[in-house]
Amino acid sequence: MMLGISQRNNMAYLQQYWSIYVLFTISVLVETIPTCKYIDSRDVEVVCNKNGDTNYVLKRGLVSDNNRTISLSLQGCRLSDVDNDSFKNLNSLKYLDLSQNQISKVKLDSLDSSKQLIYLNLSHNLFSELQPGSFDKTPNLDVLDLSGNRLMLNLGIFDPLTKLRHLDLSNNNLQGKDLDPFLFGHNTQIRYLDLSINDMNDAPHTLLDAVQVLELLNLERCLLKEVPKFAIRANLKTMKHLILSTNQITDLGDGTTFINLVNLEKLNINDNALEQIHGDVFKPLKKLKVIVLRANKIKYLPDNLFTNMKNLANIDLSNNIIDTVPVNAFRGTSVKNLNLSNNRFTYLTDNFALELRNSGAKLTKFYFNQNPWQCACLMALLSEVKKLEITYNSLHYDGKYPICVTTRDVFCKRHDTFNAVFTELYDDIVSAGKSVEEPI
Ligand SMILES: *[C@@H]1O[C@H](CO)[C@@H](O)[C@H](O)[C@H]1NC(C)=O
Ligand SMILES: *[C@@H]1O[C@H](CO)[C@@H](O)[C@H](O)[C@H]1NC(C)=O
Ligand SMILES: *[C@@H]1O[C@H](CO)[C@@H](O)[C@H](O)[C@H]1NC(C)=O
Ligand SMILES: *[C@@H]1O[C@H](CO)[C@@H](O)[C@H](O)[C@H]1NC(C)=O
Repeated sequence: MMLGISQRNNMAYLQQYWSIYVLFTISVLVETIPTCKYIDSRDVEVVCNKNGDTNYVLKRGLVSDNNRTISLSLQGCRLSDVDNDSFKNLNSLKYLDLSQNQISKVKLDSLDSSKQLIYLNLSHNLFSELQPGSFDKTPNLDVLDLSGNRLMLNLGIFDPLTKLRHLDLSNNNLQGKDLDPFLFGHNTQIRYLDLSINDMNDAPHTLLDAVQVLELLNLERCLLKEVPKFAIRANLKTMKHLILSTNQITDLGDGTTFINLVNLEKLNINDNALEQIHGDVFKPLKKLKVIVLRANKIKYLPDNLFTNMKNLANIDLSNNIIDTVPVNAFRGTSVKNLNLSNNRFTYLTDNFALELRNSGAKLTKFYFNQNPWQCACLMALLSEVKKLEITYNSLHYDGKYPICVTTRDVFCKRHDTFNAVFTELYDDIVSAGKSVEEPI
């Protein structure tokens, strides 16, 4: 009896096992197809989603042959390929999103009925090259996102896109030295160009010479050792925002570097290796509002660096090694937020904040923490900013951390000959993690 039951149980177990096994096999073999939802009753917007872990080759019939589709999203649909007729007869299509798939070759020929396409997102796929003529059928593109692929680019590829305004090529395999100087020769209308996370060293100086209305150029993480010539040419006077963050630029020692960028409002050069800065280098940037020089190796601030730059309201010089701060450098600006935290100065000019306000600056936020402060000088500044109701960073000002040092002589010594005494003292205490004097 006992044996019988056990046998029956075994059989049941086996059957169950078998059916699970069969189901499992089927689910691996059957390719799941994305399901498409028609968001609008008139089928204006189509969004496709795909569950399951198999890839799918987009075929004609799933989204093609629909005159009413204006917007089509196949974002993250596990597409590994796109048949050359999969976008046939989409006569109203304006927006196409194919981002976050695994497409390595795009055949956009079947977009021949989609002349009015203005937005194409191919970001985060596996493209390594674009076939010649890829954009011949879509001359009206306004926005093209090719970021997050493995692209190298050949001459002529963007030639049909004479209306293009937004081009994202970030995070690809572009090699500046291999780019043809006429790559963007027909794209005169580009306003937004993102080339970040590519190697843009040795790119041709004339790379952007055809561009007429550029507003933003992003060159973050481009392994640059100097400000590239193609980014500062005379035709780029329309530029408002230049991003050079996270490169290896050491030198702004030529006062004429930015002479053409007369409309620039925002300049990011943070996280570089800047040591040399010419006193006149920012002076042509008459409309500059924001400058970010955080995390460089600036020790010496020229006395006239920002003087009389009337529109300059945000200055970030934090995380440098500035040991002397000339108040004159900021006079005549409209500086509102000034960040001098994490540098190497032990004092500031008497009435520093007041002097700036008197020269026209609207100083409301002033960060000066994490410097090797002489306690007497820090106290004088703190009472000044409190009186003027200026916001400062009180992080670490809770009595638990060393924030300033003092010798027996408790006057604020505003002279550079005394700096070394205080910076050494500060380094000893900070690196030893000891607590000093009474906190403020
Ligand atoms: C779709 O539009 C095209 C051009 O506008 C037209 O020739 C064609 O007949 C339309 N097809 C359908 C099914 O409405
Ligand atoms: C599409 O590709 C097939 C081969 O895969 C080819 O025979 C056909 O001519 C192509 N059609 C177009 C319109 O390019
Ligand atoms: C392209 O799609 C990605 C998401 O996959 C999105 O983050 C990005 O903003 C889109 N690009 C543009 C220009 O809209
Ligand atoms: C000042 O710089 C520090 C360090 O880079 C940063 O954490 C902080 O957000 C900055 N503050 C302002 C107001 O820019």
